[in-house]
Amino acid sequence: MNAPQATAPRKRVAVLISGRGSNMEALIAACADPAFPAGIVSVISNRADAKGLERAQAAGLSTTVIDHKAFAGREPFEAALSAHIEAVGADIICLAGFMRLLTAGFVSRWQDRMINIHPSLIPAFRGLHTHERVIEAGVRVHGCTVHFVRAEMDEGPIIVQAALPVRPDDTADSLGARVLTREHQIYPLALRLLAEGKVRVEGNRAIIDAAADDITLINPPLSA
Ligand code: GRF
Repeated sequence: MNAPQATAPRKRVAVLISGRGSNMEALIAACADPAFPAGIVSVISNRADAKGLERAQAAGLSTTVIDHKAFAGREPFEAALSAHIEAVGADIICLAGFMRLLTAGFVSRWQDRMINIHPSLIPAFRGLHTHERVIEAGVRVHGCTVHFVRAEMDEGPIIVQAALPVRPDDTADSLGARVLTREHQIYPLALRLLAEGKVRVEGNRAIIDAAADDITLINPPLSA
């Protein structure tokens, strides 16, 4: 009989949210598979009323509120955030609808270990209200991006993107709903690639290991 294969320990993930937490739920679902290379050790919200907190608790996860308004500025808020993230021993931070800008100091401390999901094909349409702005601009293709976090908002090496067509009758809501479905697919994929060590950063680019087998998910069918 062969000796059992040694499996690498799962990466420990802290998920930061501010709101409903549907991307967090997609990560929870992925991490529920024991074969997934990462597990969530803490869900942290800067808002006590974030709906995602209830969802995380329902999934049996440890949740913490660190209210930015209780601190005198960004640095002390981030010091409390860092202390908690280090206390839970996180290897990776996933921002999932976390609505606070982070300082360059915090970002560099977590350089290439902190990822974010943004509802556009960055570098296009950084910032808020992406679906409205996409429709106003009349662009034909939209999507979402998982990227490493840098100090500039919605910038950083791109790990995975999903693109989809903008339909002539789309509203911001209908388009946003289709994008969100893709977000829920690409965030677990990007986390898996990172946790498996299949992503490395070269300058402004994230290079994905060519052997990553289900990379085709970044090319959903155009009918989607
Ligand atoms: C998502 O559209 C995400 O791309 C953006 O904020 C939204 C968060 O939604 N960063 P949810 O809280 O994950 O449902």
